Amino acid sequence: MSGQAFTQLSITERPQEPALSAQAYEKIDREIAKYPSDQKQSAVMAALTIAQREVGWLSPEVQAAVATYLDMPAIAVHEIASFYTMYNLKPPGRFKLTICTNLPCGLRNGNQSARYLQAKLGIGFNDTTADGLFTLKEGECMGACGDAPVMIVNDHRMCSWMSNDRIDALIDELRAAASDSPEPKQMGKKGER
Ligand code: FES
Repeated sequence: MSGQAFTQLSITERPQEPALSAQAYEKIDREIAKYPSDQKQSAVMAALTIAQREVGWLSPEVQAAVATYLDMPAIAVHEIASFYTMYNLKPPGRFKLTICTNLPCGLRNGNQSARYLQAKLGIGFNDTTADGLFTLKEGECMGACGDAPVMIVNDHRMCSWMSNDRIDALIDELRAAASDSPEPKQMGKKGER
């Protein structure tokens, strides 16, 4: 989304209800308190993380709410939200798989694993499978280069040495978990936004 389109959207599509809960704002306040009183914008990444954990993704309305709360231009918040791969700018599937393709992982077949995963799921990066189960993202170094190639499931679970066999086992495990527990449990999603 271009900056101009984002600005127009955030002006013309004001949410009818608060984008975030009171509890989310309390958590953001705790992050703001870590910085000097005239530098609350320093809490923007933590605030976006809190918002995403509550809502599941960072809609223009949620980004605008964070911007307003931190006295920042909406476009400045969008620039941050769109730069870092851990932020979701679209509703993710139930399982967000982020695979590292940086150099150390690349030297241990990370790119081959990424291609295998794309072919297995039938989607590209930033896409979601038609059944809504899997979203695939390309990630930057996750600080676990010794376990290369690595993946993270739902921004939380680190998976090491992701050969084709281990990818097959992980996808089977996640599909089984989804069929055992049809209700999404991901990241504290707040309704169907
Ligand atoms: S390069 Fe992949 S975890 Fe560091």
